[in-house]
Amino acid sequence: MVRIATAAESMPESIKLCYGESDMPTPAFICDAAHQAALGGHTFYTHTAGCIELREAIAAKIDELQGVSYRASEIMSTVGGSMAIYAAIRAFVGRGDNAVIVSPAYAIFSNGVIMAGGEPRPAPLARDGRRFRLDLDRIAKAVDRNTRMLIVNSPSNPTGWMMTVDEQRALAQLARRHDVVILAVEVYERLVYDTVDKPKGLSPPAGLSPPAGLSPQVAPSFARVVANKDRLIVVNSFSKTYNMTGWRLGWAQSSEATIKTMYQAVEFMTSNATAMVQQAGIVALRDGEPYIEELRAHYARRREQVMASLSSMPGVSLPEPQGAFYAFPRIEGLTDSTAFALRLLEETGLAVAPGAGFGSDGEGYIRVCFAATEAIVTAALERLRNFVTSGRS
Ligand SMILES: Cc1ncc(COP(=O)(O)O)c(C=O)c1O
Repeated sequence: MVRIATAAESMPESIKLCYGESDMPTPAFICDAAHQAALGGHTFYTHTAGCIELREAIAAKIDELQGVSYRASEIMSTVGGSMAIYAAIRAFVGRGDNAVIVSPAYAIFSNGVIMAGGEPRPAPLARDGRRFRLDLDRIAKAVDRNTRMLIVNSPSNPTGWMMTVDEQRALAQLARRHDVVILAVEVYERLVYDTVDKPKGLSPPAGLSPPAGLSPQVAPSFARVVANKDRLIVVNSFSKTYNMTGWRLGWAQSSEATIKTMYQAVEFMTSNATAMVQQAGIVALRDGEPYIEELRAHYARRREQVMASLSSMPGVSLPEPQGAFYAFPRIEGLTDSTAFALRLLEETGLAVAPGAGFGSDGEGYIRVCFAATEAIVTAALERLRNFVTSGRS
């Protein structure tokens, strides 16, 4: 993926749909908040886990969206969701341990496990026609007495798969049986779409009504089904929800004891997330709902566009992305997605991510990020269509 990105950056006419971020800047109300916070004196160290106002604002948002209650002491803000993922893995996985990762998956999970001295064990999703689904048998087979953690990302990068509540319950049961902690990475929770046959559990649970005037669409959090907070770490981020990738702000939620273990370790790595960025995060959480609505509507249109186009390309089959902002089409007969992506870039100037960048379970696929303008997505799809229909692929 680095090779493709580097080559694409040096090509002036290239279209870069290989990255995991939108081409839209952070909205002005969040930039203003950071500016005002810096001028207002938020320039000092904060508590390693973040200032209490941010942790309380995150707790309130979790309650509002998911109907589950966390105290500020059960939440830590981090330098991006990435830091939260690494700190969580370091807290539970060491030498001789392993972690089972629902795959294909973002490479940070397996690399984090390796850096912690453990063994990453990918457990592939099953493909059911137009949909991925959890393959509980494959996961159960990968678990042994040295398994410390089960890592799952939903809505998923790269597949767009979104776990149903039934799948969450089944995975939680398996984790409990084997005394394994779940790391649930939910950074795309606000980017969910109306799918043809809506997976069960997309709407808020009974008794949880959205605030007046709003209907916040959200993927069901694992926190709804795992009552024992010691058994679960949820990671979330401001990056995708508010287009704040460069700001580096995310969080982890778990039991107070786990959060304490994690922030004590982070003290010696990054310490706190940037003080004025934390303040901007509070404003994003408070005022960001209309923006999220707009963003989701924009991505929903791009998703329709990409699905219609990819589904009509010969030799291409597309599992329907239910969330996030990626299409993950399979290319018939493809055995080397890296070579495919490199040739696609060289010959057409379109950069996509090879499926193999998400582990061997992603081989045969490519990832197309559709968080771009209509004109860019149109041009990209045209280049891809020409490439696959020309026989050069
Ligand atoms: C599944 C997943 N987790 C975590 C991250 C990292 O997000 P952050 O920018 O908050 O570090 C990404 C970013 O692409 C992601 O796709």
